[in-house]
Amino acid sequence: MTERTFVMVKPDGVQRGLVGEIVGRLEDRGLKMVGGKLMQIDRDLAEEHYGEHEDKPFFDDLVGFITSGPVMAMVWEGQDAVQQVRTMMGETDPAESAPGTIRGDFGLDLGRNVIHGSDTEPGSNEREIDLFFDEAELIHYERVDEQWLY
Ligand code: PPS
Repeated sequence: MTERTFVMVKPDGVQRGLVGEIVGRLEDRGLKMVGGKLMQIDRDLAEEHYGEHEDKPFFDDLVGFITSGPVMAMVWEGQDAVQQVRTMMGETDPAESAPGTIRGDFGLDLGRNVIHGSDTEPGSNEREIDLFFDEAELIHYERVDEQWLY
């Protein structure tokens, strides 16, 4: 099933120069970037994005961290894109993430875990995409390998 997912390189990933590495891994996996922008998240957007966690003890830390510097917000498309990205990310806690996953290779701790990807709850991906992108910012095109492969 072809679908879209929202992916964000968090402030720690941008500061450490990991945007290219992460984009490369997603491209290598056969996913297609259809939107992307470097942006500074304000408090309102952060609180809306992470709204489901507002009662958690780490909520203030999470909002403070995600607004602390620029993030690279992206939309990626492909077969089972949501699950594929979640698998490539590893676990929330880098200490529990296998080597070879993005967090297993680069994550530092529960907050500074480099990357966000939409969860597999139905509708989460489109809700997050709508929050960060206007439809006009998403590009429809075919990668040269698509026709041959599929
Ligand atoms: S939960 O409780 O299972 O729903 O939460 P979880 O999915 O594990 O985490 C939700 C996001 O909160 C971040 N997180 C934290 N940030 C700072 N400090 C602590 N202790 C902490 N614990 C979890 C975690 O990285 C998740 O962020 P995203 O961007 O969704 O991956």
